[in-house]
Amino acid sequence: MPILVLVSGNGTNLQALLDAEKENRLGGGVIRGVVSDRAGAFALTRAAAENIPCFTELPDTSLPREQRRRDLSDRILKRARETDAVLIILAGFLSILEGELIHAYAGRIINIHPSLLPKFGGPGMYGDRVHRAVLDSGETESGCTVHIVDEGTDTGPALLRRRVPVLPGDTPDSLAERIHREEHTAIVEAAALMAERLASGTEKVFEN
Ligand code: GRF
Repeated sequence: MPILVLVSGNGTNLQALLDAEKENRLGGGVIRGVVSDRAGAFALTRAAAENIPCFTELPDTSLPREQRRRDLSDRILKRARETDAVLIILAGFLSILEGELIHAYAGRIINIHPSLLPKFGGPGMYGDRVHRAVLDSGETESGCTVHIVDEGTDTGPALLRRRVPVLPGDTPDSLAERIHREEHTAIVEAAALMAERLASGTEKVFEN
């Protein structure tokens, strides 16, 4: 089951996927390529170390925002087709996708978000901002969600969630770190689930 992984940063979630593939824990998934929307993202170094084809597709800042998103999404769709990807995984990917890519891969794009969606998701909710908002609101638990990507931001159906407690004295960093560890298990579990479902043709369960 060919997979394309999209990244923007350090790539610890990508690393979890690469390790799982090597250990046959990815439901038959094979990572065929990694696309970064940031030049020099360390995630690319991780992929290159495993001889995975790497692509850098930078947002074209000369274009107005709407066009910029469409242009980047179209280039990613091209990469997905070139690598014969059946499943696309957003593993710490910060750009917002739209257009034909979302339709061509409907039900076959997943994203990991560091909160218990639908709480603390949506435009502007990424990185530290999520954890700060969780702490400010006095929540007693947080976690991560892997969900299907639709046309909204963090709005698609959830595949799985993992919970962690918010502890007294937590800072955005300490909470982020606790959640990050759970993400590495969650993303592998969700990717394996999707790879197996897609291989057996039962992915339609996600169409809604
Ligand atoms: C993760 O917290 C993920 O949920 C968020 O970005 C972070 C990426 O971490 N979308 P990494 O690059 O996989 O280490």
